[in-house]
Amino acid sequence: MKRRPIVAGNWKMNGTQEQAAAITHQILTSLPQNSQVEVVLCPPHTILGKVGDLLKGKAVLLGAQNAHWEPKGAYTGEISAPMLKDLGCRYCIVGHSERRQLFGETDASVRKRLRAVLDHGLTGILCVGETLEQRQQGKTWAVIQAQLQAALEGVESARAAAQMVIAYEPVWAIGTGQNATAAQAQEVHSQIRRWLAGRFGTAQADSIRIQYGGSVKPENTADLMAQPDVDGALVGGASLEPAAFLSIIASTAQAKETPCSTASS
Ligand code: PGA
Repeated sequence: MKRRPIVAGNWKMNGTQEQAAAITHQILTSLPQNSQVEVVLCPPHTILGKVGDLLKGKAVLLGAQNAHWEPKGAYTGEISAPMLKDLGCRYCIVGHSERRQLFGETDASVRKRLRAVLDHGLTGILCVGETLEQRQQGKTWAVIQAQLQAALEGVESARAAAQMVIAYEPVWAIGTGQNATAAQAQEVHSQIRRWLAGRFGTAQADSIRIQYGGSVKPENTADLMAQPDVDGALVGGASLEPAAFLSIIASTAQAKETPCSTASS
């Protein structure tokens, strides 16, 4: 099955309104009209509205970085899935390793957040990945399998196929400049796809896109995207540089043999 490649930019805690407008504008004006790569921008909550307004009617979609599991209520500092929907979000990252490591996110809270995201009609980008220590101890697959199992508990097959993207992000590769090799990524991606097939069925697993994330740059995109089970990228640092992000999108398109030329305006 041919899966539509997806490149998402995770801006993390970066960007003023002015910077957001400048980055978004540059991406919109330079992205080829016929890009077959699905492009998603995930700015921080404070500028979701701003970026969302600029993306209205455009091919680039809006995503958030996190969502609470309750729709509303006394949860100071949190943002809910219906609020994100209200702002025009189509995607929401769930279980990013920075949330797990720095903000006490657990498998149980990731499951609840993902459930809320799906229940409110958003597509979840579920992040999984091992630490360097876990990789060195040969525990990579055990860790990822446990993360998948916990987060996707109770998710129906049809829903997984329609509303799920998985992002494999080795923790040691995030923000370090040291990306996983194409072979390392493909090995884990194919294991994830096999697991998805066992959990949801082969046809569903074939349709679920699996992004790679962790120091994706223009220089390493072609190699990573040439892998059959790598369906796109979740890009952190490089997504804040429009030229680099556009180059990653173009390389993805090329690697997946979808029409996408370089800047047109
Ligand atoms: P990076 O981050 O591209 O800066 O390594 C990726 C991510 O955290 O999603």
